[in-house]
Amino acid sequence: MDERIVSKERLEEDEELNIRPDSLEEYIGQSEVKENLDVFMKAAKMRDESLDHVLLYGPPGLGKTTLAYIIANEMNGNIKTASGPSIEKSGDLASLLSTLEPGDILFIDEIHRMPRFIEEILYPAMEDFALDIMIGNESSKRNIRIDLPPFTLVGATTRAGDLTSPLRDRFGIVSKLQYYTVEELTSIVKRTSKVLECVIEEDAAIELATRSRGTPRIANRLLKRVRDFALVMGNGNIDLEITKLALDKLKVDRLGLDDTDYNLLKAIIEKFNGGPVGIEALASSIGEEQTTIEDVYEPYLLQTGLLKRTSRGRMATRMAYEHLGIFCPDKID
Ligand SMILES: Nc1ncnc2c1ncn2[C@@H]1O[C@H](COP(=O)(O)OP(=O)(O)O)[C@@H](O)[C@H]1O
Ligand SMILES: [Mg+2]
Repeated sequence: MDERIVSKERLEEDEELNIRPDSLEEYIGQSEVKENLDVFMKAAKMRDESLDHVLLYGPPGLGKTTLAYIIANEMNGNIKTASGPSIEKSGDLASLLSTLEPGDILFIDEIHRMPRFIEEILYPAMEDFALDIMIGNESSKRNIRIDLPPFTLVGATTRAGDLTSPLRDRFGIVSKLQYYTVEELTSIVKRTSKVLECVIEEDAAIELATRSRGTPRIANRLLKRVRDFALVMGNGNIDLEITKLALDKLKVDRLGLDDTDYNLLKAIIEKFNGGPVGIEALASSIGEEQTTIEDVYEPYLLQTGLLKRTSRGRMATRMAYEHLGIFCPDKID
């Protein structure tokens, strides 16, 4: 198996390991997903079975990887990780599968980017805990079936719509992660600052949470940077004043929008008359990948009501004009 499959993911994970909650109880927010998972995990344990396969989807940074690790912890299984695009050959997946022990979790991140022919190996593995492999040479090929131990596949994706339906249908549990509320993000910010051993005042934590696009990863990242400002420009404690100053310097506005969000909205308003504009035209006008816009930027802009999606394309809303301080024609709503 290709060394990268495990190691690339690992590096990123190690960095975050200490601030990542490792039990369902410590995992803040996503109450619906959490309550359901809790029931399914308890039931699986009572029946002494492996948990049904889980598909987690939603924008980046909302806690999919974290949840996969929590599932492994709660089910007392080991976790093996891989990411869709790094599984290039059927042998890569076969060797991953053959290392599994009963009750293990196989976590495949970005599962929508797994090659289609690899998916087909997963079907019998998911359904019957079996691995079908071809052996022999050209003259005598035959198929043998190897039994796999009962395991749980946890797939994560930013785009559930890109999964083929045969793959999607094989997940017994499908959970969509939502953007976090300011209250939830405030708790996350406070929890992380405890882990990082820094002091943050309540109003500063709320300010940070408000400007984190509903996303724990962003909240944690901004917290680390604000902490730097507090250390260098103050006494190390994070108060509201230093938070505002730092976030302004980091060019994070009061809704959590960054330069790309601005460019995107501005392009729709100024270059495309407020829209509707197709995603391809929009992407090329601001020099971003279409998928980055669709997976990272657009969901939050839609959620906050700055952007609207119609059958003819994306449109800026009145709120977007006002937020950018651009005069809004009467016809826009
Ligand atoms: N519910 C949560 N409670 C506390 N921290 C969280 C929560 N969800 C995510 N985080 C933090 O946010 C960061 C990003 O989460 P991650 O699981 O890597 O997101 P994803 O895999 O969806 O991109 C991690 O550092 C994690 O500690
Ligand atoms: Mg992840």
